Amino acid sequence: MRISVSENSPVSSKNDTLVVLTDSDSIRSNATLKSLDKALGSAIRKSFDRTGYEGKEGELLKIDSLGNIGSAQIIIAGLGEKAKVTLESLRRTVAGAMKLARSEGAKSVALEMRSAKANRLDDSQRAQACVEGAILSLYRFEELKSEKSKKKIEKLSILKLGGSSAGITRGIRKGKILAEAVSLSRDLINLPGNFATPTYLATQAKNMCKKNGIKCTILGPKEIEAQKMGGVMAVARGSHEPAKFIIMNYQGGKKSDQPIVLVGKGVTFDTGGISIKPSANMEEMKMDMSGGAAVIGTMKAVAELKLAANVIGLVPAVENMPGGSAIKPGDVATGLSGVTMEIINTDAEGRLILADALAYADRFKPSCTIDLATLTGACMVALGAHAAGLFGNDEKLIEKIIAAGKASGETCWHMPLLPEYSDDIKSEVADIKNVGPRWGGASTAAAFLQKHVKGDWAHIDIAGVAYTGKAKHYLTSGGQGFGVRTLIRFIENL
Ligand code: BES
Ligand code: ZN
Ligand code: ZN
Repeated sequence: MRISVSENSPVSSKNDTLVVLTDSDSIRSNATLKSLDKALGSAIRKSFDRTGYEGKEGELLKIDSLGNIGSAQIIIAGLGEKAKVTLESLRRTVAGAMKLARSEGAKSVALEMRSAKANRLDDSQRAQACVEGAILSLYRFEELKSEKSKKKIEKLSILKLGGSSAGITRGIRKGKILAEAVSLSRDLINLPGNFATPTYLATQAKNMCKKNGIKCTILGPKEIEAQKMGGVMAVARGSHEPAKFIIMNYQGGKKSDQPIVLVGKGVTFDTGGISIKPSANMEEMKMDMSGGAAVIGTMKAVAELKLAANVIGLVPAVENMPGGSAIKPGDVATGLSGVTMEIINTDAEGRLILADALAYADRFKPSCTIDLATLTGACMVALGAHAAGLFGNDEKLIEKIIAAGKASGETCWHMPLLPEYSDDIKSEVADIKNVGPRWGGASTAAAFLQKHVKGDWAHIDIAGVAYTGKAKHYLTSGGQGFGVRTLIRFIENL
């Protein structure tokens, strides 16, 4: 979809669909709606009266313009109360309008976002939110379909009206970079496990890095063994797919700047291993590399935005299978940190591979390390699909991540990491065990990770938010690409 700023007026702009955003306080006084209503012989006012349209958040109304204005159709999209308009309500409302426009067969769409000016959101921010909402809501994963959808919006024009062309253009560029990075993550998540193997993930990371001037190193099984990454080796044993350890190194800051290290869980399929999972919904476990996909997407956006920071992305990638050489309950592995780990349950594999990546992160002397992982069903039970679980050893870092998440529409909820959870994972035969008692599973998993960490660190458990069966506003069904926009915002805010 080509996106640009346009000098045209709402009445003269020639498009299949004209989307007009309006808050509910101004549906009768909105200048654009008034001028359109005049051109349409009061069709809008009549339509409001007939349908009881109020401009509530996400409320849509379509009106055929019958050749009276440049666009064939108008979609009026409600933002809700003026005082409550946020970047997130903008993303969601635009998402709804764009999906409707596409289903109506529109190829070209113009967007009037003047009414979203409420709450001092500047032109650039507003345009960025609109573009994020538009691209993300229109995302489709059709690579494996013989017949692709025919309906496609090819062109989106954001009407400048009183706004700043430079500001809107800046917002469009940024929204595009972010939404395309999220789309890359979604593609990687949605691709089934027989295609998206650790080798595939490594190749995709390498290609992305090459295009964007990021240094990329891939460690294969031999190097992983030479490095003594016992956690990665342990999980990979049960699969024929070789493990890969992906290292992406972006240098946008001064040489002396301490880097931020991002770590993403890259289990390309999680059968559970010998502690095998039940069959129901097991197909969804192709999403167990969503953390890794978010890190790869984030690295792409970091480079395209040319952020003035040094950022390292680490993705340990494995397939968790119950093969003849697979690890068994009771086995003990030694992680890169030197910590010995008793594997009580082979389905708690994420923490084993993250242990090595977190220990490896320390070599870069980072200012902070943040990991993203679809780590526990317990986190999903606690927070559902509405928030990710956020753990960490530094209050300030946690606050910054929460703030970045809020601004991005990705909620990260602070969860406890008390010393008691560490007591829960003491092992009889090794230093720690990979499973604690029945309750508090998200926190004991975080406590397990903490054992392999040295500096400031945060862990985001995205098990509940990484994947959905049901589309909602700009979230399409399947992989979400959760974390990309939050991480970018976090790095920018530093
Ligand atoms: N990948 C799963 C966690 C998960 C569950 C992610 C549901 C997304 C949706 C993880 O490897 C796992 O299986 N964890 C176990 C840990 C348990 C054995 C301690 C779990 O949560 O059941
Ligand atoms: Zn598992
Ligand atoms: Zn897993």
